[in-house]
Amino acid sequence: MYSDVFCKVYNEFGWNYYPEAFGEQLLQWLSDHNVSVGSAMDLACGTGVLCRILKEQGIRAHGMDFSTGMIAIAREADPDIPYDVADMTTYRPEAQFDLVTCTGDALNHIPDLADVERIFANVHAYLAPGGHFIFDLLDEKEISTSEPFDLDFDEHIRARFRITRPAADKVHLQTEVFEDGVHSFTEDIFETVHDRSAVLSMLQRQGFELLKCAHRLSDDGGPEVATWFVIARKSDNTAQRNKITEVLL
Ligand SMILES: C[S@@+](CC[C@H](N)C(=O)[O-])C[C@H]1O[C@@H](n2cnc3c(N)ncnc32)[C@H](O)[C@@H]1O
Repeated sequence: MYSDVFCKVYNEFGWNYYPEAFGEQLLQWLSDHNVSVGSAMDLACGTGVLCRILKEQGIRAHGMDFSTGMIAIAREADPDIPYDVADMTTYRPEAQFDLVTCTGDALNHIPDLADVERIFANVHAYLAPGGHFIFDLLDEKEISTSEPFDLDFDEHIRARFRITRPAADKVHLQTEVFEDGVHSFTEDIFETVHDRSAVLSMLQRQGFELLKCAHRLSDDGGPEVATWFVIARKSDNTAQRNKITEVLL
C-alpha cells in the first residue's frame, strides 16, 4: 500500500497526467463505438482523476483504492463521488456497473497472476451484461531503467526517483524525498510484468469477450504508448458480440 506521505508526493508531482490522458482517449473510444455508460467503477482509482472526468460526462462514477492516502485526496477533490478503501483482489460491490476501469499500471501492482484472475472473476460479477472492462498493463519491452533523477517540488522539498529491474519480471520504483537537503522518507514500489497471453487467457476463462489489446485505445492510428490497453466485454448474449476487433499477440 502507498504510504499517506507518498500519496501526497504522487499528487503534488503531477502523476495525474496519466489518468487525464487516459480519460480523454476513453471518452473518445466510447463515443466512436456508440457505447453509452450510465455507471462506472474505477478500480485502484488513485487520486480520483478518472472518476471526476467520468462524472463531468454525467456518468455515475464510483472509485476504490487500497491506499487511504489516495482516497483521502480523491474525497477532498470531490466529496460527492463515492469511494471505497478496499483490496481489489477481494472487492465485490453489490451494485452493477456499465464500465469498469483499472489503469495506471494498477494490475502490475498485483504480483501473483492468480490474484489478477480473482480480480477478473470479481469484475465479471459486478459488470452489467454487455458492460466493458478496460485496463492497461505494462509492456515489458518498453520499460527502461533510469539513473536517479531529481525533481524540485519547491525550494525546500526535492524528490529523487529511480527505476531498476531487480528481476526479469520486476520493476522497482524508488522515490526518496529530501526536505532542506535532509532525507525525509523513501517509498519502494514493486511492480510485476505479467505475461500478456496468460492475462488474456484468464480474461476469456472468466467469461469475457476480448475486443482489443493494443498500444492505443483509439482506432484511428493515434499515438502509441508504452502500455498495453485491453478492452473486454461481458457478454449480453446478443449475436454480434463475439467480434474481436484488434488483438496483438
Ligand atoms: C500508479 S497508481 C494509479 C492510480 C490511478 N489508477 C491512476 O491512473 O492515476 C496505482 C494504484 O493502485 C492502487 N493499488 C495497488 N494495489 C491495489 C489493490 N490490491 N487494491 C486496490 N488498489 C490497489 C494503489 O494504491 C495506487 O493508487
